[in-house]
Amino acid sequence: MSEKRIFSGIKPTGDLTLGSYIGAIKNWVELQNEYLCLYCIVDMHAITIRNDPETLRRRSLEQLAQYVASGLDPERNIIYIQSHVPQHAELSWILGCYSMLGELNRMTQYKDKVSKGEENLNAGIYTYPVLMAADILLYQSDLVPVGEDQKQHVELCRDIAIRFNHVYGETFKVPEPFVPKVGARIKSLTDPESKMSKSDDDPQGSIFIMDSPDQILKKVKRAVTDMENRVTFDTEKQPGISNLMTIYSSATGKDFDVITEEFEGKGYGAFKNAVAEAVIELLRPIREKSEEILADRAYLTEIYTSGAKRAAELAEPTLKLVVEKLGFVPRG
Ligand code: TYM
Repeated sequence: MSEKRIFSGIKPTGDLTLGSYIGAIKNWVELQNEYLCLYCIVDMHAITIRNDPETLRRRSLEQLAQYVASGLDPERNIIYIQSHVPQHAELSWILGCYSMLGELNRMTQYKDKVSKGEENLNAGIYTYPVLMAADILLYQSDLVPVGEDQKQHVELCRDIAIRFNHVYGETFKVPEPFVPKVGARIKSLTDPESKMSKSDDDPQGSIFIMDSPDQILKKVKRAVTDMENRVTFDTEKQPGISNLMTIYSSATGKDFDVITEEFEGKGYGAFKNAVAEAVIELLRPIREKSEEILADRAYLTEIYTSGAKRAAELAEPTLKLVVEKLGFVPRG
C-alpha cells in the first residue's frame, strides 16, 4: 500500500444524501486502493448546530454503517468517530493561533449565514474551518476528497500549513483538494439553484441514501425542470435537467452527449423514469447492507474502537512534533 494519505469526513447533522454520496463517498471508495485513508464521522463539527443528543448518536452510528455499506473496507481504511481522538481538538486550538480573522471572515459558509441575518451565531460556526484544517493536517494528508462547497476550506487549510511551516520549518504536509469532475455540486430537486443538503427544510429536495425505491421515484418525478423539452446540459437555461443529467451520469457512468442522444425526442417523463431507476439501483445495495450492519451493534463498536486507536497512533507523532516546535515543555 502506498504511504500517501487521505483524510475526509462528513458531519452527522442529517441523514446522508445522494449529494454526500456522489460528491464524496463514491470517490472515497475509488481511492481506497491507492492510499492509506482515514474516513471520519466528524461529530465535533456537528455541534455547531443544536442537536437532540439521541439523534446525534443515532446518526453517527448510521453514518458509520453507511460508510461500510458503500464499500469502504474497515480493515483497509481507518474509519472512526472524531470525538474519540482528542488530538483533533488539541491541534485545532494551536492552529487557531495561526489563522487570521480576515481569512475566517472570508469563508463563504460563514458569510452566507451572516448575510442571511442569522442570529445567535456561535463561535464554532466561525472557527470550524480551523478544526477542519486540524483534521487534515494531523495525519499529514496528501489528498482531501470533497465536494465543491468544501474546496475553500481545504485551501484555507493549505494556507495555515504553509504559514506554520514558514515560521517553524517543514512540519505539515500541504494537502491537495480532490473534487470530482462530475457531481461536485448536486443540486436540490425542488430548487436547482441551491445545493442538495442533509439539513434542507424541504425533504422533497433531497434524495437520502436510505430512501425507499418508491420515495426516490416520487421525488425524481416531482423534480423541477423547464419548458425546453430536451435533455441537454445547460446549467444556465436548464438547471433542473442539468442536475438530473449529472445524477444520471454519476449513477451510470454515461457522458452527457450520450445521455442527450439516448433521450432525443423522448420527453422528460421517460428521462425522469430512467434517472429514478438508475438511482434506485445505485442506492439499493447500500441501503440493504446498511440495515444489516446497523443491526450488528458489536460489529459497529469494533470498527470505531479499532479505528480510533489506529487514528490516534498516526496523529500522535504530528502533535508531538508541533508542540516541540512551539516550545511547550515535553510531557514527563
Ligand atoms: P458536509 O458534511 O457538509 O459534507 C460532506 C461531504 O459531502 C460533500 N457534499 C456534496 N457534494 C456534492 N453535492 C452535494 N450536494 C453535496 N453535499 C455534500 C461535501 O462537499 C463534503 O465533501 N466540513 C465538512 C466536513 C469535514 C471535512 C473535514 C471534510 C470536517 N473535517 C476534513 C474533509 C476534510 C462538511 O461540513 O461536509
